[in-house]
Amino acid sequence: MNRIAVLTSGGDAPGMNAAIRAVVRSAVYRKVEVYGVYQGYEGLMDGAFQRLEPRDVGGIIHRGGTVLRTARSERFQTDQGMDSAVASIDKAGIEGLVVIGGDGSFRGGWELHKRGVPVVGIPGTIDNDVAGTDETIGYDTALNTALEAVKKLRDTASSHDRLFIVEVMGREAGFLALNVAVASGAEFVVVPERKLDVGFLCERLHQSRKAGKQHSLIIVAEGAISAVRLKEELKDTGGYDARVTVLGYIQRGGSPTSFDTILASRMGAFAVENLLEGGRGIMIGSLCHRMVAAPLSLSWEGRKPLNPELIELIDTLSI
Ligand code: F6P
Repeated sequence: MNRIAVLTSGGDAPGMNAAIRAVVRSAVYRKVEVYGVYQGYEGLMDGAFQRLEPRDVGGIIHRGGTVLRTARSERFQTDQGMDSAVASIDKAGIEGLVVIGGDGSFRGGWELHKRGVPVVGIPGTIDNDVAGTDETIGYDTALNTALEAVKKLRDTASSHDRLFIVEVMGREAGFLALNVAVASGAEFVVVPERKLDVGFLCERLHQSRKAGKQHSLIIVAEGAISAVRLKEELKDTGGYDARVTVLGYIQRGGSPTSFDTILASRMGAFAVENLLEGGRGIMIGSLCHRMVAAPLSLSWEGRKPLNPELIELIDTLSI
């Protein structure tokens, strides 16, 4: 293999730049040319390629976002879109593709793989909702960003003896919410993986006030219920008056943590190694801190459950 390409797709995540850098430099180290594809699958269809040399990816390891930019492409999800992507890949003489993104991006990669394009995926999303890897690139940074915000909210919650509801991202998964809740010492967490019982939540709030707690924090995953809706339900069921904060896109930005930077660097290098050694239609993962490769389809077919121990821990430690 003499020429490969790399793209970022779906929601941006801190550490994507470190992964791009690692892909470019480890490929060039092995005398393989690398092209950056701009705006994900959109750029793949349009042939928006640019040759990247090691110096082109200098000074980006610590930067949030993605220098290649990204997109959620509907056009690519049609047969015509995929055929035009394959045509641009062939025209540019690209022999292999590294896709950095979440499971939606991996589904796109799988379609290309079925059309004969050698594809290796690197999991990058703040949601951590990709099976086949313990962590995705960007998740640790988002967790820490959300945690910093929640710590500040606790200051004001405790000063006013208030109940706060903080909504975090995570799409249909509760990884971010659960881990923010444990790390911030929140009283409650609401995640899509566990059925919400508002009556039970009100009872817990009541008990916690009786036990002397003057303020409380509830962390809610966007995929479970919106913070605004939960506020209304707590008002209707228990008469509680909660303040709401939706953290939103701030969770996607910022310089990656050391954890994400190292994970991205390792995954980028391992992806190139696998692609050059014949890996096809696979994703890179990190399991128990070891780099592994598995079929791309595992990312959406596999189950990645929340750690039940952490859910229990919140109940135990919030007395
Ligand atoms: O997948 C990352 C993520 O930030 C999710 O947490 C969120 O639900 C979604 O992307 C938002 O998507 P968009 O950038 O398309 O608004």
